[in-house]
Amino acid sequence: MPHPVAIHFRDIDSAALAAATGRLVLLGEPGEPIAAAARPIDRRLRGAISRAVASEAFAKLKPGEALELGFPAGLSAEAVQIVRLARRASVADARKAGAAIAKALGAAGALVLTGAHRLSHEISFGLALRAYEFGAHKTDAPKLFGEVGFQVANPEAVAGLARPMAALAEGVFFTRDLVNEPANVLTTDDFAARLAAMHELGLEVEILEEGTLKLLGMGALLGVGQGSPSPSKVVVMQWNGGPAGEAPLALVGKGVVFDTGGISIKPALGMEEMTMDMGGAGVVAGVMRTLALRGAKANVVGIVGLVENMPDGRAQRPGDVVRSMKGDTIEVINTDAEGRLVLADVLWYAQERFKPSAMINLATLTGAIIIGLGHENAGVFSNNDALAAALLKAAAAEGEGAWRMPMGPAYDAKLKSRIADMRNSVGRPAGAITAAQFLARFVKPETAWAHIDIAGVALPPEETTLAPKGASGWGVMTLDRLIRDGYEAR
Ligand code: BES
Ligand code: MN
Ligand code: ZN
Repeated sequence: MPHPVAIHFRDIDSAALAAATGRLVLLGEPGEPIAAAARPIDRRLRGAISRAVASEAFAKLKPGEALELGFPAGLSAEAVQIVRLARRASVADARKAGAAIAKALGAAGALVLTGAHRLSHEISFGLALRAYEFGAHKTDAPKLFGEVGFQVANPEAVAGLARPMAALAEGVFFTRDLVNEPANVLTTDDFAARLAAMHELGLEVEILEEGTLKLLGMGALLGVGQGSPSPSKVVVMQWNGGPAGEAPLALVGKGVVFDTGGISIKPALGMEEMTMDMGGAGVVAGVMRTLALRGAKANVVGIVGLVENMPDGRAQRPGDVVRSMKGDTIEVINTDAEGRLVLADVLWYAQERFKPSAMINLATLTGAIIIGLGHENAGVFSNNDALAAALLKAAAAEGEGAWRMPMGPAYDAKLKSRIADMRNSVGRPAGAITAAQFLARFVKPETAWAHIDIAGVALPPEETTLAPKGASGWGVMTLDRLIRDGYEAR
């Protein structure tokens, strides 16, 4: 999958700037002198750049926002875009500046003069993330982005910093593509094939088919998929870039390729959004791709449960009792509470097989987390304060909203069933928490574990700073950061 936008880093070249036919992008900040390399351009424009930066309109811009001079006389550029960014800007503002460049970018491309700015690579990262387009199903040619040349004081150094970020952007795009893809295309077979193709990157990929899952005793997962013609699967992706024999970090994802609700069927309005119910598996896949692309020095295993939740003559009924791989029985009160059934078996399998040093699962698990946190924060549930703190720190560093939620025995008690060991659905109060408590029943006491409910953030209703409307890829950056800081920095 190629980058939607090609970015190069070159030396500063005033003649090239003056001759540019695409867009010309400069940085400015009120009270700071414009970069030396921008001065020849400013002179050609009879001081328009310095006047713009000193203007009232520019002072009203937030960091990372831009102002534009169209068809400037004296230059061949289409437009000069001046992005507000101070020399000491934050990483978040630098990425936002990149996003502003991307939003205005067209087929003619751009030359971006960031000069000696210390966050040139972050600007290019924000640009790359925001220039994403999901054009797979548009008959007319999708939006074309021309090449972007960054002019910087030290091109080799900046390119070196940008390289791992390109791997990260590719992981984010992989996740976004998966989440944006409709369910008639992204079937369980298609999803598994896309994961298997990552073998080329050095990942070890195994696909466990229904027969194997049956032998393993994964009755909870298999019950969810039994109403669909698409076979249920578990896909295991291993990246062993760390010390041999060191216990891996396990990432587990809910991969419901479509969630109709099953026999407890969902209302028609908005049901089409349930193509995103494989979002947790999508994030796990994107992280694994990034780790392989940048050659991460850590042992990480990604395991996803791929199923489709459909109503059918063979579908699971409300009231059915299934047996999980762990051995506990579950009364299926509501077939729409299917994600926890899938995860119950995959979480157990991950621990039995890999004895991970820590385990993090991601899932578009509940509507209730959207009621609680909206589309701004994912909900973090954990049995381990250090792991939760590390996750929240990584999320904050990457600008991805995350908020810790409570757990406890009083919530767990609600899972009591009259006829089985537990029930899968409890009712509306604290719906996101009781879902987390259900998962916790499949976590061994010695496993440091976190569950991230990404139902609100995987497919936000509007564009965000770094993503157009559609899938956000929330979590790929956070988990990559967590691995970088907590599992590689040794
Ligand atoms: N996939 C849904 C959760 C969801 C809702 C994700 C909205 C994204 C947007 C999940 O499988 C589900 O249906 N959960 C039910 C649980 C209930 C039946 C206990 C819910 O949240 O309503
Ligand atoms: Mn559901
Ligand atoms: Zn679901």
